[in-house]
Amino acid sequence: MTIADNKMHKASKKESVGLSHTDYPSLRDTCRLLARAGFDPREAEEFWNAAEGDFQKFERLVYLRTVARIPKEYVLGELTFCGQKFVVDQRAYISDHWTELLVHRAVEVIQNIENRVVLLDVGCGAGSIGLSVTLFVPNRIRHLLLADISCKALEVCRLNVQAYANVRECFPSFSIHESDLLTSIPNEIRTPAETIDLRKSYTLIVCDPPYGSPDRDKMVSRGMLEKAAHVPKESIWGPHGELFNIHVRLFSEILSRSWKAHAIIECGRYDDAHLREVLPTNIDWQHVWLDEEYSVVEAIYQP
Ligand SMILES: C[S@@+](CC[C@H](N)C(=O)[O-])C[C@H]1O[C@@H](n2cnc3c(N)ncnc32)[C@H](O)[C@@H]1O
Repeated sequence: MTIADNKMHKASKKESVGLSHTDYPSLRDTCRLLARAGFDPREAEEFWNAAEGDFQKFERLVYLRTVARIPKEYVLGELTFCGQKFVVDQRAYISDHWTELLVHRAVEVIQNIENRVVLLDVGCGAGSIGLSVTLFVPNRIRHLLLADISCKALEVCRLNVQAYANVRECFPSFSIHESDLLTSIPNEIRTPAETIDLRKSYTLIVCDPPYGSPDRDKMVSRGMLEKAAHVPKESIWGPHGELFNIHVRLFSEILSRSWKAHAIIECGRYDDAHLREVLPTNIDWQHVWLDEEYSVVEAIYQP
């Protein structure tokens, strides 16, 4: 990149949307660099827009992506999920695009429930699942509960919830809980308008838990293993190296609460036989494929 190129970039700052690679040789070079490093060349334009005409910043973003191989979302500090933007950084997991299917399934379930639901996102990370469901059907949510074991992930989640709560009409009351699964979630939630008894209301529980295991790398996709180097450890590996340990515990914890609830828990591309080996038999769970490669387990609790 010559100084002239750099000046040209600065001058074109306001017109950065729709830049064409032929007009801007440096972008073309960056596209090549990204493609050679195995990344999507279209990312070049996103980095350029994010740099807002600051060439040094642009170079730093490209360096982080191509040399340090940091995931694009961490480089940009932003995740697009279900068509919405969320702040994300290395304190919180980068939601997988296939988890959007879980969001759509949750919306479908909510639309078929007569009353408004309490929505509980367990292991919420940056909050993208719970928030996306809420943004699709805000009027159907009585209260949004977001919970995670990681206080750092919850710092990011708080930024996202507050950003949306401040600007969206009808945004429901919400609370954020540092909790090992349900351990620190009270049965009664006080909001400015009401006290909600979770034993008397209907709760929809959504969860994308860590279900990888360092002992069973082969069970995790290659893309996931690359991501694993950068995301928080607790977001990807199950505790004690046990695959599905979190699913099993969460199922039992919901049962012990005597809540009227519907739980939707991600289990990716694991097959029926595998799930039958590990999931409890005292709960009537169903394995639901939302597409060829992505499934969830669902259980309805009716005390
Ligand atoms: C795969 S990430 C998913 C994060 C977020 N739901 C998303 O889709 O982006 C799993 C999340 O579960 C959290 N987690 C791990 N163990 C947990 C536990 N025992 N209780 C609550 N959250 C837990 C991690 O901190 C992480 O945020």
